[in-house]
Amino acid sequence: MEIIFDKVTKNYGPINVFRDFDLKINQGDFIFITGPSGSGKSTLIKLILNQIKPNGGDIMVDGQAINKLKNKNEIDKIRRKIGVIFQDFQLINDLTIEENIALNLDIVKYPHSEVAPRIDKVVKMVKLQHRHFLFPSQLSGGELQRACLARALSIEPEVILADEPTGNLDPTNAWNLIKILQNINKKYKTTIIMTTHNTDFTESLDKKIIKLGKNENENT
Ligand SMILES: Nc1ncnc2c1ncn2[C@@H]1O[C@H](COP(=O)(O)OP(=O)(O)OP(=O)(O)O)[C@@H](O)[C@H]1O
Ligand SMILES: [Mg+2]
Repeated sequence: MEIIFDKVTKNYGPINVFRDFDLKINQGDFIFITGPSGSGKSTLIKLILNQIKPNGGDIMVDGQAINKLKNKNEIDKIRRKIGVIFQDFQLINDLTIEENIALNLDIVKYPHSEVAPRIDKVVKMVKLQHRHFLFPSQLSGGELQRACLARALSIEPEVILADEPTGNLDPTNAWNLIKILQNINKKYKTTIIMTTHNTDFTESLDKKIIKLGKNENENT
């Protein structure tokens, strides 16, 4: 999946976050998005998810301006190629890890007979094969984030969007997650777009880095 920001402008009322912002992301890229608090990292993720619309310009996914799509089926089709993980996990607390993943597969209408083997496979990919029957409250922070990653991976996404995924993890668990993301990127050519404040990652790993600046309104 190719993602292009073509002269994107995004305002929240009087606050300008992006102005004529250009970016090209190729299938298989591993990209870090950095920048100070308020610089627009989460906004960039939400624009790709089509959760918010730009005020100008287009977000092109495989040649289609997703911000202009009206047909719900077309929007869903693209959305289903994207897995997401967040700093605060966002698992459903009264479902077990495998039920959380199954629900996600159900939403994308994953073939019924393939649901159990798929869950099996993704929990192994994130090294949670002995934890999948537990509820979120029974897992550690590192395990919770790996569970979220398993849920994101379950739908065989072409792209994974990760908004501060290591924000609530200690350094060991954070590096663990990065290693799993790197493996997935290498093995399946899944695009990884990850926002982070952690300069250890950006300085020690040889990845593409997009640095967002403070938005203009802050200085006036
Ligand atoms: N729904 C909203 N309404 C109004 N302003 C918003 C909204 N969402 C974000 N903003 C503003 O847009 C700017 C960018 O926010 P965004 O959440 O993208 O920053 P960020 O880089 O992710 O910051 P952080 O590192 O703190 O997560 C901020 O100034 C924020 O206050
Ligand atoms: Mg943010």
